[in-house]
Amino acid sequence: MSSNVKLLKILKEYEICSTSTSILRNHPIVWAEAHGLEVTDVEGKKYLDLSSGSGVANIGHCHPHIVKTMVNQASSLIHTGWNFASIPRILFLDKLKDKVPDELHHFMFAVTGSEGMETALNLACFYTKKTQFAAFHGSFQGKTTGSLGLTSRTSFKTDVSPAVSVSTYFHYPNCYHCPFRLSSDSCKMFCVQHMEETLNLPSGGLENLAGIVVEPVQDSEGIVVPPVGFYKRLREMADRLHVPLIFDELFTGMGRTGTFFAFEQEGIVPDILIFGKSIAGGLPLTIVAARKEITTSFPSIRYNSTFSGHPLTAALGIATLEIFEEEQLVERSAKMGDYLVKELMQLQSIFSLIGQVRGKGLMIGVELVRDEAKTPAEEEAKLFVRKALEYGLILLSGGNQGNVLKIMPPLTLSKEQADQIIQTFKRILIEIEEVQQIAEYSYSVALSSFCWL
Ligand SMILES: Cc1ncc(COP(=O)(O)O)c(C=O)c1O
Repeated sequence: MSSNVKLLKILKEYEICSTSTSILRNHPIVWAEAHGLEVTDVEGKKYLDLSSGSGVANIGHCHPHIVKTMVNQASSLIHTGWNFASIPRILFLDKLKDKVPDELHHFMFAVTGSEGMETALNLACFYTKKTQFAAFHGSFQGKTTGSLGLTSRTSFKTDVSPAVSVSTYFHYPNCYHCPFRLSSDSCKMFCVQHMEETLNLPSGGLENLAGIVVEPVQDSEGIVVPPVGFYKRLREMADRLHVPLIFDELFTGMGRTGTFFAFEQEGIVPDILIFGKSIAGGLPLTIVAARKEITTSFPSIRYNSTFSGHPLTAALGIATLEIFEEEQLVERSAKMGDYLVKELMQLQSIFSLIGQVRGKGLMIGVELVRDEAKTPAEEEAKLFVRKALEYGLILLSGGNQGNVLKIMPPLTLSKEQADQIIQTFKRILIEIEEVQQIAEYSYSVALSSFCWL
């Protein structure tokens, strides 16, 4: 049996430091197998995956139907090139259309999420003949040059000049940390009003605006869940301003937030939609869907790439949608999400380290804070993630200060697994509290001896 440490030495030596440092610092294990939620490392230790492998394993890892479909399809046709048709490509589109509103029945295939985002931006620019976008603080839209232009987090952007420029970043409705210091009970979503007023200013950027790009829940910023009504308000604003509304549902789509797409929760339809991650059961595939009037004159040569419409990923797309139906994963996401949030709120009532529990479906954030002023508990979150791994949970943290624990397990999560997560969280919270008490005690002893002197 290989050891984690031995194998990771090779990673440290040869993979660029930003990736290998993150693995070595936060999750120094080497995955050997993964089935459903369960991951086994090369030393045979088992973990529950609360990350879904960057939000990809919504149907669970190595689902038997996926494995079987992969073997079957791979033994007849793997690749055609974007300019040739195949049966899976056609049947997949036929099945996909039942999941997407009629208005968006024009699809484009991409591979990564960032490529899908580039396609969406291209499409919006081509349609509007304009080149700038309105995006949100805390956004993450990808790391290719154009998509990076919309990503607000500066940590992703060092030394890069994005080709697509954002007219302005606007405040996302982050009610726990309202940038306008308003109360969500009475603010009437002032942030959205402020956005429209700013865009309408002579220098607001509306003249050259090709679209408004939004994530229905911000993942990277620490699972920021906007209040109900936000999507509707954006839809109305985009209509008034005559600009396309672009929903990046790469993370929130495919049942993650308790409906197949998050926008369904407010009965609206965006103009351009990007989704993927889990659509091909673990292989890379992204879909861009858009209104017919937007896609009609768009030349296909502008978006197709070598692997577009790939028969293997298309066959896996069909299998994934079948699994969603058979296992009722969307309903499961909503039900298990509610259960986890309720249990986590119970923990919040006991442990002051938990500042807020927020989520939609199985996209849940637990923000750790030091005090009532919401000082980010950055070190505690790091310790939490390390202890979680020790006790068998693969957990990511996010947010600007890294103090939000992100719970995003496969949607196949069972009640027993949910209880295991809660019990482990409780154990870790107790241990962190003990560490804090010891630290406070040592501090007070030091302080009292100082006073005595
Ligand atoms: C909301 C969102 N948009 C875009 C992307 C970029 O996707 P990719 O990493 O596949 O390029 C991601 C990736 O995590 C994402 O979560």
